Amino acid sequence: MKEPVFVSPAEIAASKAAAKRVKDEVYDLGLTYHIESYGCQMNEHDSEKIAGMMEEMGYAKAEDKSKADFIIFNTCCIREHAEQRVYGNIGALKKRKDENPQLMIGVCGCMMQQKDAGRQLFKRFPFVDIVFGTNELYRFPLLFEEAYHGERTLQVRDMDGEIAEGLPVCRNSTFSTFTNITYGCNNFCTYCIVPYVRGRERSRQACDVLAEAKQLIADGYKEITLLGQNVNSYGKDLTPRVTFSQLLRQINDLPGDFRIRFMTSHPKDCTKELLDTMAECPKVAKHLHLPFQCGNDRVLKAMNRGYTAEQYLELVHYAKAKMGSALSITSDVIVGFPGETYEEFQDTLSLVKEVGATSLFTFIYSPRQGTPAAKMDDPVSHKEKARWMAELLALQEQISAEQMQLHRGETFKCFVSGKGKLGDNYVAARTDGNLIIEFEGDDSLIGSFQNVKVIEPLTYVLRGELERN
Ligand code: SAH
Ligand code: SF4
Ligand code: F3S
Repeated sequence: MKEPVFVSPAEIAASKAAAKRVKDEVYDLGLTYHIESYGCQMNEHDSEKIAGMMEEMGYAKAEDKSKADFIIFNTCCIREHAEQRVYGNIGALKKRKDENPQLMIGVCGCMMQQKDAGRQLFKRFPFVDIVFGTNELYRFPLLFEEAYHGERTLQVRDMDGEIAEGLPVCRNSTFSTFTNITYGCNNFCTYCIVPYVRGRERSRQACDVLAEAKQLIADGYKEITLLGQNVNSYGKDLTPRVTFSQLLRQINDLPGDFRIRFMTSHPKDCTKELLDTMAECPKVAKHLHLPFQCGNDRVLKAMNRGYTAEQYLELVHYAKAKMGSALSITSDVIVGFPGETYEEFQDTLSLVKEVGATSLFTFIYSPRQGTPAAKMDDPVSHKEKARWMAELLALQEQISAEQMQLHRGETFKCFVSGKGKLGDNYVAARTDGNLIIEFEGDDSLIGSFQNVKVIEPLTYVLRGELERN
């Protein structure tokens, strides 16, 4: 695999200089920004970088988004539905722009990186000031500066992708946050657009990840989620090679009381070594998001997933044997891949029964232009697929309820993340396995780890009680 390519410090400096020039121009105008973020955590984190650059340009986060001076859409194209929402929401801004020509509008992210999509959007919505792709993120202040001076800007480069270190980040939470460990994807699952819009897989240097983790811990963060499309293949492009397990151990060894999460794990690269590492590292959450997508081997092959249902189950059994009831498994499932039959779909239901996931993220297959699956015969109607989906959801609901019941009387170390919904005096906490427990408690507990005993499993949350030490 190729060594990752880094954006040069000179280019980062040029971008920061542009941010500074904008700031010098706008500093006393009290301008504000609003970011509409779609898609996965990768995008959410990119939006935090955009926010960081906006703040460097002297803009503040808008309290009221209808009054923002700059609105930017960070788009997703994983399924058709995500795209339609974006077009609708951009279109809705035309009237506002007519009323207030000073309003600036930007569109960026995965959708813009699709073939011709950026150019077409730029043409279709002449009131949009800035359009850029995922490869341009670090150049945003340069593009913004041009647009601020009245020059509409469009920049989408088709390339393998680089790594930009040193961008400012304005984080949405003060205790739970993300850090990238890899960018891009090389797996080319036949249904998926991500490898086309996020470029080739590349790993950040372990020292950069560690330095960021250290800083986050020093800043009081209690939960750090390591992000990558396939975290298990972290480091394959680094010399000397650093494996994901090694990286996890190094972060686990950092001093402090914090929790490490990661996503997404790809079953084809998930090793027993990684599961051992999870079991042995106390700061690593016992949560495995391990998408199987489907339980039928013919369909898995057509999806180019690189494992069989049996291999997947072997991993699950090994992980359960190592981590016991502490482990929580979640997964993504696609229903109605082109050519999938109802009989084949039954294998997905069987796998769902055997895995015993705490929850599933389920999607009806959505054809993505440019992917191999979009050219495959897809004879089953959407209505029929929706019926299969209902069957899957009913089954998983029953399994989730059973899983919740297993926890009655158990005590979990939980991270208290905010107000609860069960009552005014409730706070909500998340277990290692990402289960939500609500218990009666003071708001001052928010942002801390607490031991909570499960009193009553409800459908989606557990009701618990604070254990006094
Ligand atoms: N890298 C992750 C997935 C990122 S995309 C992984 O491989 O697990 C998140 C999920 O969206 C995928 O797991 C898949 O279930 C779903 N997905 C991706 N492309 C899709 C498509 N064309 N139609 C429906 N669901 C899709
Ligand atoms: Fe898409 Fe597959 Fe890559 Fe996940 S591993 S991002 S599903 S191509
Ligand atoms: Fe994520 Fe959507 Fe892009 S799922 S990587 S934001 S296409």
